[in-house]
Amino acid sequence: MRPLPPPVLTGNAPVADRLREYYLHYPFHALQKALALSPHDIITELKASGLRGRGGAAYPLGRKWECVLQQPAPVRYVVANGEEGEPGTFKDRVLLERNPLAVLEAMIIAAYTVRARAGYIYLNHSYRQIEQALQTLLSWLREDQRLGGNIFKRQFDFDIQVRRGPSRYISGEETALFRALEGRRAEPSSRPPYPTEQGLWHKPTIINNIETLSCVALILEKGSKWFTTLGPVNSHGPKLFCLSGDIKNPGVIEAAMDASLRDLIAWAGGAIGAFKGAMVSGPSGSLFLPDDLDKPLTVQNGCGNGTVVVFNDTRCAADLARHVTDFFFTEHCGQCLPGRESMKQAKALMDNLEREPSLAPLQKRYGELHALLLNSSKCGLCSSGTAMAPALMQAFPEDFNRHMHGRCAVCGSVA
Ligand SMILES: Cc1cc2nc3c(=O)[nH]c(=O)nc-3n(C[C@H](O)[C@H](O)[C@H](O)COP(=O)(O)O)c2cc1C
Ligand code: SF4
Repeated sequence: MRPLPPPVLTGNAPVADRLREYYLHYPFHALQKALALSPHDIITELKASGLRGRGGAAYPLGRKWECVLQQPAPVRYVVANGEEGEPGTFKDRVLLERNPLAVLEAMIIAAYTVRARAGYIYLNHSYRQIEQALQTLLSWLREDQRLGGNIFKRQFDFDIQVRRGPSRYISGEETALFRALEGRRAEPSSRPPYPTEQGLWHKPTIINNIETLSCVALILEKGSKWFTTLGPVNSHGPKLFCLSGDIKNPGVIEAAMDASLRDLIAWAGGAIGAFKGAMVSGPSGSLFLPDDLDKPLTVQNGCGNGTVVVFNDTRCAADLARHVTDFFFTEHCGQCLPGRESMKQAKALMDNLEREPSLAPLQKRYGELHALLLNSSKCGLCSSGTAMAPALMQAFPEDFNRHMHGRCAVCGSVA
């Protein structure tokens, strides 16, 4: 087994029971370095690092910040996305429990870079204790003039508020998240305009995932050159992977994106039973099969947010496809017509699986729904939510055929 690299993002123990001590010893090196640089120099350094977003879409962070800086509108916002609603994803929670100041430090650096005066951290509804710890840290930062007015006596003002959203997967989609922060229904908006041009309250907004922001402080502290030594080109830096499913030691593993699925499974103690497949980047991501075990989990190979849900040969792929379809049907917002109608049809196809005469027409119809959503839906939820079922049909036709022939002995379903 390859040795696991030493963690740089998650090295700290959870800070809840020693919050004051953690705060007093936090060095703020990255912030101090940033305050000595111009916004242009900060962006140059971040671009040189090659850091891409860790929320799923892997958009280059430096380019995003630069675009906000270039906007003529004087009011700008910084938002940290900690909704984390994808099944099997819990890395941002771990980061916020172990090193929350790295996120707050990065938000202050972002505000200094693009001259934002207000920031928001949007948390998953269940992260109540994290919210409390963040509120305490924010109050200490204000007392010490690291937040609020005239930060570090540099004549720049910025403050951060924490919000916990409703328990809905769609709230993590950036435009829906803005609407939730504005006190409206969490529903996506059409793009363009993009959040960098018109985001929160229609003002230019930096929105980044919690893990992406945690990398910013590291880059400014250790340098972009150091960051590029981790992981392959276009996939630089440390990455958190959430291992769950049929795995001996589920949890978060910090590695680089040159790690293969085989490495990750080995570091997590091995699979339970015989490996059959994995949903990489979660149920909205891509299907990895035994032949893919040695592929590195790079951005190009679909690493996405780093979620890895492993399943073994006791799982029925048709049952998994039904669960995945149910989840996205339940979570879709129903706002756009293609999304609403296609999700209804996708659910009906899976509900009536046992009544289908053969797999080929089902596969064709489901695939058509997915293609239609890719081209016409308002946000990524319904299109990405209908990618996994066709992939499972393609990889495991025998599992679906069992359902069509009356009884599936693997999942126990009867026609
Ligand atoms: C349905 C849906 C749910 C999403 N949920 C999250 C989430 O929980 N956390 C997150 O960081 N990004 C999520 N995203 C991606 C965000 O829209 C956005 O791209 C991300 O916050 C940008 O940050 P990054 O560039 O640092 O990755 C979601 C996207 C979609 C379509
Ligand atoms: S694609 Fe789905 S989740 Fe997104 S806006 Fe349309 S119905 Fe809502």
